[in-house]
Amino acid sequence: MTAADGALFTPEVLSHPVEPLGLLRFLRRLVDNPLATWPQAVFEEKTLEVPFGKRGLLFVMDPPLVDEVLVGIAAAFPKAPIIRRTIGPAVGDDSIFTAEGAAWRWQRRAASPPFRHGTILSFLPAFTASAITTVDRLGASSGDTVDMAEAMMETTFDVIVETMLSGRTRFDTKRFGEEISRYFDTVGWIAAYTTLRLPDWLPYPGRRRAMAGNRFLRAEMARVIAERRIAPSPVPDLLDALIAATDPEDGRAMTDAELADNLLTFVVAGHETTALALTWALWLIGHAPAVEARLLDEVERVVGAGPVEAAHIEGLAYTKQVIQEAMRLYPPAPIIPRIAAEDVTLGDRQLAKGTPVYIPVYAVHRHKLIWDHPAAFDPDRFAPEKARQLHRGAYLPFGAGPRICIGAAFAQIEAVAILATLIRSLRFVPLPGHRPMPTTRLTLRPEGGMPMRVERR
Ligand code: HEM
Repeated sequence: MTAADGALFTPEVLSHPVEPLGLLRFLRRLVDNPLATWPQAVFEEKTLEVPFGKRGLLFVMDPPLVDEVLVGIAAAFPKAPIIRRTIGPAVGDDSIFTAEGAAWRWQRRAASPPFRHGTILSFLPAFTASAITTVDRLGASSGDTVDMAEAMMETTFDVIVETMLSGRTRFDTKRFGEEISRYFDTVGWIAAYTTLRLPDWLPYPGRRRAMAGNRFLRAEMARVIAERRIAPSPVPDLLDALIAATDPEDGRAMTDAELADNLLTFVVAGHETTALALTWALWLIGHAPAVEARLLDEVERVVGAGPVEAAHIEGLAYTKQVIQEAMRLYPPAPIIPRIAAEDVTLGDRQLAKGTPVYIPVYAVHRHKLIWDHPAAFDPDRFAPEKARQLHRGAYLPFGAGPRICIGAAFAQIEAVAILATLIRSLRFVPLPGHRPMPTTRLTLRPEGGMPMRVERR
């Protein structure tokens, strides 16, 4: 079965401009869906310079150069200011996601205990329990159409609260998700203002409600911290690790505001991304009966009828390949923005200090010089013998180098456990004629959600 003989499912692709867009059309698209402003050439060239401010902006798609930026000379390429400007209002300017240098390093070290391999495996019961709750909920309305993007957000939100906050705190999950979405929906405006060099206090549609939403999210985190100060957790969790940590430079602990920023970072970064990987995977599987059959066969053989346990994870190799391929076509984090911190040589180019350097992960993952039939859904690309031949700069759903996603292993094991549990009991049927287009709101979401018919097997 190959893409060449037409047997593989090939989702429709978003159209990208072949000629430069005029400023107005560019801005309109930027507000609407920043992904749709990327030139078609990012899927075809190794690098691409586009006009932007004084120095221009460089897109880097060539795997060895991607590796240089993120790993080889990563110190010369810190996160671009657009990251603080877009994410800072939600998670603070100096949390683990946004900080740089020594301020970042100790927070990263502080947050690492819950992400050790053994600890992640101890979370398997939480991953599986959340998936079983979802199976029961969806199974009860078998035959109905359900927004799977929403259903997966709820599933992974429960996981994050259960694993990172010992499940002790009750949240209004629906409101939480809505406030995050409301904020993310304004990100196109922030990007447009950055392009036009407008100050960030200028109003734009949705700004006031988004900021009120941010205050709600912060207040929820402050409540968790206050509760923890009174009643310790029965098992050490992420919050305990963060509370116990001290900055090696001056011996100070995190303030409550810093703790809140970091908790929010983990809750936001740690559930929507994994939920999107699962959402796109379910939709792709729904179009690929052969993939679905192989998945079912693997799950029945490796797991049987009981819950997915730590001992099963290694055997669920094809399930993992399906998740990997879904994240290739639809990387939940579609772009990694960096900036040259100094005058620097990249390949055969001299970059002036201050040049933005963007790694368009979505384009690298669909690049015609890197992949055969880049638009086709083919989990066999990640079969071990093939995956070994991939350049490490060619596939980077979790980024690379020092700033690589701290939750990468957690997310992959979680996604495998949830997918295996769901697919064994339920069938997810795409709606006829529904072609979800990817849209960027920081993350890569299906425009209009992902309605699918859910049936009990
Ligand atoms: C499929 C799921 C996920 C994807 C695709 C993803 C993707 C990414 C990417 C690409 C980065 C690097 C950004 C950059 O270099 O600019 C990142 C960083 C990060 N991710 Fe994830 N992530 C996922 C799941 C998670 C989970 C489950 C957690 C936590 C529970 C998490 C927490 C973080 C944090 C805290 C950072 C910042 C790390 C640092 O700068 O030191 N992510 N993620």
